[in-house]
Amino acid sequence: MEDLTREAFWNVYRPGCTEHFVLNQYRTNPDFIPELDFVMEEDGLIIGHVMFSKAELVLNDGSRKHSWTFGPISIHPKYKRKGYGLQLLQYALAKAKTLGVGFICMEGNIDFYRNAGFDLACKLNIHYHAEPKDAVVPYFPAQELIPGWLKENDIHEATYCPPNGYFVADEKPDAFEAYEATFPKKEKMILDGQLPLFCHCCGAPLTKDEDCGRNPDGSINFDYCKHCR
Ligand SMILES: CC(C)(COP(=O)(O)OP(=O)(O)OC[C@H]1O[C@@H](n2cnc3c(N)ncnc32)[C@H](O)[C@@H]1OP(=O)(O)O)[C@@H](O)C(=O)NCCC(=O)NCCS
Repeated sequence: MEDLTREAFWNVYRPGCTEHFVLNQYRTNPDFIPELDFVMEEDGLIIGHVMFSKAELVLNDGSRKHSWTFGPISIHPKYKRKGYGLQLLQYALAKAKTLGVGFICMEGNIDFYRNAGFDLACKLNIHYHAEPKDAVVPYFPAQELIPGWLKENDIHEATYCPPNGYFVADEKPDAFEAYEATFPKKEKMILDGQLPLFCHCCGAPLTKDEDCGRNPDGSINFDYCKHCR
């Protein structure tokens, strides 16, 4: 599954990816929900995977309510845009609902998630932690799997921050590098459609390889600009 996740996410949102490390580390995370960890097979090959996690919503008075999120969700690049991702997601959401999962939100492309019943979280008064409360956040979809679940749980307005487990590559950069080195080498590239990249030191935008710094072995360092590294 980690190979598949790496293949699916590689160079999609940034040069390379870290989502396979999230998956690797989440298996021992108490927020991981083993009953909601699904693979999709075609001709004996694993072509898709999705996992769910416990999460929290923070109310305006600072109190916390339990909730749920999911991801990474991956379809192998050779099988993308054939309807498999939607099929896998709809199956997983139906199972989640039977386990009492009432509300889900996460970061993602609304153009895909809308097909599975999601709408922007701001329409349910759920805010994203890194954005102003009055912002319409296009990458933050949500859905009440059990209609009325938010109201029943006295959640009229709340803020979501992804669980700590999703930031593991930032928290343990050396462990991530060591883990990544166990995989066959793949070229990291800046491509159209990725999230904007900025130098971690001076904040300069990194829009092409030439803007970036270099590692001691001469490879491109996508974390820093050429002036800072
Ligand atoms: C996102 C992903 C899981 C979608 O799976 P998929 O099998 O490729 O998607 P589907 O064929 O089921 O798509 C169904 C519909 O969702 C929408 N959709 C899917 N991917 C989309 C994309 N990248 N951009 C915009 N719309 C998209 C389209 O409306 C699509 O229907 P269409 O192909 O008839 O236009 C898969 O492409 C993937 O693994 N991507 C890389 C990893 C990733 O981004 N994961 C999600 C993180 S939020």
